[in-house]
Amino acid sequence: MICKIVLYGFKFDSFTMNKPVKILGFAGSLRKSSYNKAILRAALELLPKDTALEIFDLEGIPPFNQDFEKQMPEKAQEFKTKIKAADAILIATPEHNYSIPGVLKNAIDWASRPYGDNAFDGKPVAVMSASTGMLGGARAQYHLRQTFVFLNMYPINKPEVIVTYAQDKIDRDGRLTDKNTRDFIKQLLENLVSWTIRLRKS
Ligand SMILES: Cc1cc2nc3c(=O)[nH]c(=O)nc-3n(C[C@H](O)[C@H](O)[C@H](O)COP(=O)(O)O)c2cc1C
Repeated sequence: MICKIVLYGFKFDSFTMNKPVKILGFAGSLRKSSYNKAILRAALELLPKDTALEIFDLEGIPPFNQDFEKQMPEKAQEFKTKIKAADAILIATPEHNYSIPGVLKNAIDWASRPYGDNAFDGKPVAVMSASTGMLGGARAQYHLRQTFVFLNMYPINKPEVIVTYAQDKIDRDGRLTDKNTRDFIKQLLENLVSWTIRLRKS
């Protein structure tokens, strides 16, 4: 028997609440030694229980062309399918010229199309950024959050994981060594998971 309870004004059933949370993560960098890929890998080590994180590499997604949005190139379609299947999204983005990198925007554009079949619609999302500069990609995060409005995503606000001077916090093997940053990522993941569960209304 499924037991219904009311928590914080939302109705859940025990099955919905206990279902593991599947997160899809991707970085807005194709670089092999990317700091943003490194913080995503760190997230794998910091997951709350009953949570799975799959990391998707945007390498190979061709430039968006609306002529093909109904029959997408294979890699773009694969990305879109994985977004649809995920309960929540985790994005790690570099900042390029005070905004999000073209590769990230390009991938988002494919998965949001064609009009009426936006894979991101209604998904909870968390953002992290890492840059070699003193602002850690904060400006890119706010541009990305603007995109979430049209995508109809539900971002979590806190904590803001902004990794400044990433070269000092990630070692040569691509491991995030900074304890504070690891703690922030852990908290971000916990908040993303509880937010996702709150949004799972019966
Ligand atoms: C085209 C380009 C533009 C950049 N613009 C910015 C910027 O506006 N702000 C910033 O903090 N870093 C900027 N950087 C430096 C990036 O933070 C740095 O390359 C970082 O390592 C990129 O992330 P990744 O390691 O995940 O590839 C820029 C780098 C590139 C290649």
